[in-house]
Order: sequence, then C-alpha cells, then structure tokens
Amino acid sequence: MQQTLANKRILLAVSGGIAAYKSADLTRRLAERGAEVRVILTDSAQQFITPLTMQAVSGNPVSTSLLDPSAEAAMGHIELAKWADIFIIAPATANVIAKLAQGMADDLLTTCVLATTANVFVAPAMNQQMYKNIATRKNIATLKEHNFHIIGPASGEQACGDVGLGRMEEPLNIVAAIEQFMAAKPAYQQHWQGISLTITAGPTREAIDPVRYISNHSSGKMGFALAAIAAQQGATVTLIAGPVSLATPAGVKRIDVISAEQMHQAAIAAAQNSQVFIGCAAVADYRMAKVAEQKLKKTGNDDLNLQLVKNPDIIASVASLSQQRPFTVGFAAETHNLLDYARGKLASKKLDMICANDVSDPEQGFNSDQNAVTLIWPQGEQALPAQSKTALAQQILHHVLQQFTLQTKA
Ligand code: PMT
Repeated sequence: MQQTLANKRILLAVSGGIAAYKSADLTRRLAERGAEVRVILTDSAQQFITPLTMQAVSGNPVSTSLLDPSAEAAMGHIELAKWADIFIIAPATANVIAKLAQGMADDLLTTCVLATTANVFVAPAMNQQMYKNIATRKNIATLKEHNFHIIGPASGEQACGDVGLGRMEEPLNIVAAIEQFMAAKPAYQQHWQGISLTITAGPTREAIDPVRYISNHSSGKMGFALAAIAAQQGATVTLIAGPVSLATPAGVKRIDVISAEQMHQAAIAAAQNSQVFIGCAAVADYRMAKVAEQKLKKTGNDDLNLQLVKNPDIIASVASLSQQRPFTVGFAAETHNLLDYARGKLASKKLDMICANDVSDPEQGFNSDQNAVTLIWPQGEQALPAQSKTALAQQILHHVLQQFTLQTKA
C-alpha cells in the first residue's frame, strides 16, 4: 500500500449515526496509508460502535469525554486539538453540523474543533429530508464559509428506507478526498519557487579538551522544520547544521559543522549565494581561548577556571555583508524581557526581522516539538501562538516571504 499519508496525524471524530460503523473501516484505511489515527467518540456514537473496536483498529486509546480526568491526564482536549494535522468528522450528524456552525463547545468533539488549527473535513450523514432542510443547508454553507471541507454526502438507499442524498461518503472516497487535498499545493505554497535560502540550525559544540565540550539543548528541530517547509514550497535550501541527530529534509542541501567558527565560515560562504538567511542555530557565544590538547586532569583545587573568548557573531556578520547581503532573519532565545531584548538584537545585529522566542517554558523552544514566537521587523510585530514546529515554520516563512518581497520591490 502506498504510504500517501505517511506521518500524518489524523484525529477522527465519530458522531452518533448509523454510518458510525463505517468509521472503523475508515480508520483502518487511513492507518494502512501510514497515518497515525486517534479517535473521538461522542456519547451517541458509542450507541453504534464501541471504544474497544476503535482502539483495536487505530492502535491508540479512544477519547470519549471532555471532563474525564484520567483521559485528560493522558491527552487533554487542547493537546488532541494541537496534535492533529488533519481533523475528520465522519459521520457528522445534522446536530453536530449545527453546533459547529454556531461555534459551540459543549463536548469533546466540538471543543477540539474550536481549539484546532488543523484542516477540518466534515462527512455529513443523515436522513435525506434532514439534509434537504433549510436549516441544515444554511449550517453547511456556514461551515464552508468558515473553511471547513465538506465531503459528500452520497446518494442512495438509507437505513430508514428513504432514498436520496444523505448517506455518509464511503471510507475510500473520504480517504481519496484527503489524499487529493494533501497532494494539491495551494498557490501560496509555490511562492518560494526560485528563491535561495540558507538556514542555520542546532547547537554548536566548543571543545574544552579532546573529550569535553560546551554546548546547549538545541535539537535542531525548529531549523530543520523551516528547511523542510521552505524546500516543499519551492525554495533552494542550504541547511547548515550543528551536531544533531535529525534526518535531512527532502530536497535540502545540508552542510554539517561542529563549532561556531566552522558554522561562521560555512554561513558566510552560503549567505553570499542566498537571497534570504535565517539564523535559527543556538550558537555558543564563547569558546575556549585554547583547547587543551590532552584530557584535563582533576586538580586538588575545588574550582576550575576556563578562559573563554568570544565567538564571531554569525548573523551579525551576514547582515553586515557589503555585497550580496541576503534578507536576514534572526532568532532571539530569551528567558525574560523577551520583546525588549529581541528588539535590541534586531537593531544591534542590523537584522531585517527577528523571531522572539520565549525559552523559559520547557514545553516549547529548546528540544521540544512545540514552539511559539513573536515576529518583529522594523514596521511591525506578529505573535504566532504555540503550535508544532512544522506549523510554526509555515507561518514564519509566510511572514518572512511577505517582508522579503516588500523589501525587494521597494
Ligand atoms: O533547535 P530546537 O531544539 O528546535 O530549538 C529551537 C531554538 C530555541 C534553538 C530556536 O528557536 C532559537 O531560538 N534559536 C536561537 C538561539 C540563540 O542562540 O539565540 P540568541 O538570542 O543567543 O542569538 C540571537 C541570534 O544570533 C540567533 O539568530 C543566533 O543564531 C545568532 N547568533 C548568536 C551568537 C553567535 N555567536 N552567532 C549568531 O549568529
């Protein structure tokens, strides 16, 4: 089976209609294409299909209640909503559709819909007369206006004996609609086409002696996410990576370095052939004045003084290039006075934009899968809330491209 949905995180919410039995098949079809599927069952869905069945086909615990403390402890409603890349509601009853159109949040399903930034697909399933009802028609029109994707319904004989539009679309057709959506690249995704971009990522490592070094907790995930998305959107990407254990994103040229001085050298060379430069690496500000040739031995003293010297400021050097200077974007990792310090670095390093990154919260920033930043540029600011590093990379790149384009046109 082709892995068309490999690594996609799909949240499938099942509401209470006779078509709920098909959601087990839908789960299986999604999983066999490589997706990780988590399931929400509403109270009425559980009258048609059990959590045990859905747990068996998805391979994950099933969420059934908004106010169940043990379920919330495992993966709370906000975490579930954030976890999802794609959110499918199948079957979606007339009642659920009405609640979504109103923006209600009175159970786990509706709360997660309000809390997610994922694309939401809705597969209506109801009696044909209920589907024809003007109230339902208006509610579906509202969902479309709110950028929900409606799949179906199909026409045919219904469980109640009526014939007409209202049957839930077949699982394979729902899967095909999701695959088609994933494969299609909206126009904005092509906008990096033809633009060259250099990104630094990960930590640097400054040797103390042959076996010890100074470094930090950067995993490289944020910089690698930026590189992956930019390449997907058509950019020619050079990724200068410190010592990290991450796979090279598709279509990206990777240069591995260890120390700040090596990163500096690679960055200056690459920056001169790039239109945009993003410094996401956590570069060590200092290195040893002299690296010990042999392993340092423990002495009789209780303290040990290491003499350090300043490393070159890579991003400031890039931003000061007198020729072929790229549009230069930095990050500011701060534990306090976030915006003030970030504005200071924007000015002192002569950057075009900076991503102010609060790293005091262990849930985001260094070595986590989530992050949040405030983008600052001379004419504006934009807060981008906590989300997966992949989703955040898309938003950062969107704003970088906007400002880069404005500067190029000016
Ligand atoms: O790698 P992850 O685990 O995914 O974590 C991501 C991150 C938290 C490392 C990333 O989002 C981030 O904030 N990167 C910047 C980290 C940092 O070193 O910030 P800073 O405020 O110390 O540096 C400011 C800017 O100057 C940064 O763009 C940095 O790359 C650059 N710099 C710093 C020192 C130096 N000698 N040369 C530089 O170019």
